[in-house]
Amino acid sequence: MKKVVVTREVFDETIECLEEYFVVDANQRDEKLSRELIFDKIADADGIQTASNDRVDEEFLAAARNVSIIANTAVGYNNIDLEACSKRNVIVTNTPGVLDQSVADFAIGLMIAACRRMGEAERYLRSGNWRSVYLKQMLGIDVHGATLGLVGFGRIGQEIAKRARGFSMRTLYHSRNQVDANIERQLGAEFVNKDDLLRQADVVMLILPYSPATHHFIGEAELSLMKERAVLVNVARGGIVDDSALIRALKDRRIYAAGLDVFEGEPAINPEFLDLENVVLSPHIASGSESTRKAMAMTAANNLVEVLAHGRPPLNWVNRE
Ligand code: GLV
Repeated sequence: MKKVVVTREVFDETIECLEEYFVVDANQRDEKLSRELIFDKIADADGIQTASNDRVDEEFLAAARNVSIIANTAVGYNNIDLEACSKRNVIVTNTPGVLDQSVADFAIGLMIAACRRMGEAERYLRSGNWRSVYLKQMLGIDVHGATLGLVGFGRIGQEIAKRARGFSMRTLYHSRNQVDANIERQLGAEFVNKDDLLRQADVVMLILPYSPATHHFIGEAELSLMKERAVLVNVARGGIVDDSALIRALKDRRIYAAGLDVFEGEPAINPEFLDLENVVLSPHIASGSESTRKAMAMTAANNLVEVLAHGRPPLNWVNRE
């Protein structure tokens, strides 16, 4: 029987599915494994189900001498050195599709929370200082009718655009490729260049993949193009935003607020974020509904089954070329 290693805790049903086909070395107690311990486990593995924070690099692959597939339990795969995998004929898969709606829901939630100061309001109420209702209390900015600027317009970006219509928002987008005119019409979305998007949007929302090319895609210069009353939402990846530059902009009130699910160097986060009232923070949970996380784990497992048990191409092959 072939061997599969699962590096982090998944659902019991994921393990049950894998055990129908493989000897499974799982980590259901979610123990923090050192690189050495992981290397030991993967030495004779045929397949590995990874999490988005496992670093799959040359060293990892050298340790996994028999591996033919890395099934990442995430749609993003910037944790994996694709070139190194391809060089060794290791298939890499991800979990697209199953999380689009949940991430889009969460992105809208962060947008509203940042615009309407929900985090700050809750902290205030919990502090016990609330004495009365008054007209000018915690005034926020409206989401309905505002201009949304989506950076990244793949499946998730398009799901966000659908939801934005329900809020009567005007949607601008910027991405590597302009989408088909029919899709633009259906979603009421208009393609613009990066600077125009930054200048016009009331809410700039990031949902593009991380790569060296998108490192600090939003930095000092970009933040200075944004409106003083604009909100930045990042549900993509840490590193796309220069967190230090963002903190300066939030402190100086050069933008209104931010809603962030991802951070440079997470799970460590720049402690200065914690002292700011005008930022809503969450611990990389945009896809984290129970049913979506189950579907992601099962998608990764199914990729392992297709390749290792059935000898078929995987369902979600990232490095096919
Ligand atoms: C989550 O961040 C993912 O890439 O699936």
